[in-house]
Amino acid sequence: MSFLQIKNLRKKIGNVEVLKGIDIELEKGGFLVLVGPSGCGKSTLLNAIAGLLPLTSGDIVIDGQVVNDLHPSQRDIAMVFQSYALYPNMTVEENIAFALEMRGVAKEERAKAVAQVAKTLQIEHLLKRRPSQLSGGQRQRVAMGRALVRQPRVFLFDEPLSNLDAKLRVEVRAEIKALHQNTHATIVYVTHDQIEAMTLATKIVVLKEGMVQQVGTPAEIYNRPANLFVADFMGSPAMNMLKGKVTAGGGIALFGNGGVTVPMPPSISSALPAGKDVILGLRPEAITDDGLVDPTARAIAHVEAEVTMIEPTGSDTFVTGKIDGASFTARTRAEVVVELGQTFRFAFNLDKAVVFDPETGHRVV
Ligand SMILES: Nc1ncnc2c1ncn2[C@@H]1O[C@H](COP(=O)(O)OP(=O)(O)O)[C@@H](O)[C@H]1O
Ligand SMILES: [Mg+2]
Repeated sequence: MSFLQIKNLRKKIGNVEVLKGIDIELEKGGFLVLVGPSGCGKSTLLNAIAGLLPLTSGDIVIDGQVVNDLHPSQRDIAMVFQSYALYPNMTVEENIAFALEMRGVAKEERAKAVAQVAKTLQIEHLLKRRPSQLSGGQRQRVAMGRALVRQPRVFLFDEPLSNLDAKLRVEVRAEIKALHQNTHATIVYVTHDQIEAMTLATKIVVLKEGMVQQVGTPAEIYNRPANLFVADFMGSPAMNMLKGKVTAGGGIALFGNGGVTVPMPPSISSALPAGKDVILGLRPEAITDDGLVDPTARAIAHVEAEVTMIEPTGSDTFVTGKIDGASFTARTRAEVVVELGQTFRFAFNLDKAVVFDPETGHRVV
């Protein structure tokens, strides 16, 4: 049985149904990331798990125990918020030890636990300082230390990195990942940042308007998105979505009046009836310059298109191509020789294609 189960959870706030029947399971030691745009219900769901909000209906089960009616303090859960909420008048040491003190843990044992956590988080040198004497990243580490020292059954994180600048965010993100690998804690982590979701999760849940869109491993969500929303939300730059029509030969006619027909690997073409309108999804890295083509690919098509934008990132370059009014983004080598306005020969790797039904938005293959 899963360690954490959320069963048909609904939450109404006023007249608005913010969570519309959420089902999630997480195994012990798993790292679940809830990702979705702002306002989709992530914090509401996390607060419901913590017991800070009563449920409208449904069940939350931890380690076989229904916790719906348990007070937050009895759920054995620790939560780390975006704002760290450290006690300003206490030292780091006292901040971390506070929850243990409240529980009546003896002084010696407290000191031992704090030392252990401080070592894990590499904040031993900060123990005597007050929060005002810490950087943002250090404060976030102390907030994690406070959660960690309690050894709860489940950790909840609500956008813990949002207040940090870009470089620090990447550093602390790696620390959270290492923390999970070292402690095997069971974690539910909320973010609107799809990169955080991809890098941290063992399991991702994509939410939109209070409904689960897809549950899967990062690779499943990225490579096999269930619908157009997930495909568009995960990945940056976003997946190219090209309107097309299936041809009699099993290819897909793309762009404007179907001026270019690209072949499909048999696994895809066998699932598509001729004449069907489709949306072809292709990630930028599946459209490249010839020098970067995957030599093992079976279905490569070359498409000549006008270059309308060039965005070097250092490691590689994003090139926008335009043909018959439709644009797409390719990821080429940084060294590629390309100029604005030029007609460039792009290589489409159709092995990597996914195909959506434009009416339902669901992935067909
Ligand atoms: N206390 C509240 N009163 C009214 N509406 C709320 C309240 N809390 C949240 N909501 C609404 O519920 C939706 C989900 O909010 P939230 O869970 O905070 O989203 P997220 O964390 O994904 O950004 C939003 O549309 C928000 O306006
Ligand atoms: Mg939120």
